Amino acid sequence: MSTIDPVIVAQVAALLDGEQNVITNLSNASALLYNSMDQVNWAGFYLYSQKADSLDLGPFQGQVACMHIKPGSGVVGTSYVKGTPLRVPNVHEFAGHIACDAASNSEVVVPLKVGGTTVGIMDIDSPVLDRFSEDDLKVLADFGAALAKHLDAAALSAIY
Ligand code: SME
Repeated sequence: MSTIDPVIVAQVAALLDGEQNVITNLSNASALLYNSMDQVNWAGFYLYSQKADSLDLGPFQGQVACMHIKPGSGVVGTSYVKGTPLRVPNVHEFAGHIACDAASNSEVVVPLKVGGTTVGIMDIDSPVLDRFSEDDLKVLADFGAALAKHLDAAALSAIY
């Protein structure tokens, strides 16, 4: 059973219905995520910049964070290269983990795919070890898929 209420998937779809602005949509999605889960200290997005070949910080809730992550680096960059979600029960055991907030102990990431292309990574951190279960990851993957329907790849690449 998930510790995260699956209603957030329907909520993000309803919230973004008819909305086109990618920054507006990612901003409210980060607020919805952050306020729908307990034991979470960061929730937000890294968006892929083709110009810089970098995952650059997007809308988020939480402490100031790393601004540029290279594909292949850290949890975020690894998820981007693999194109798959990752659940990291203990970030200190993940080779290459990038510690933006020393309080983080576990993490989950979900690629955001638009038309088969990964445009960014949804990232959630927790101060609690093994905070996210496989069932939690499923809910978050569904949330990412619902959100991605409201992301315009061309609009994102004009900004990032
Ligand atoms: N821990 C991530 C970096 C991003 S912060 O968690 C917000 C990583 O290893 O990629």
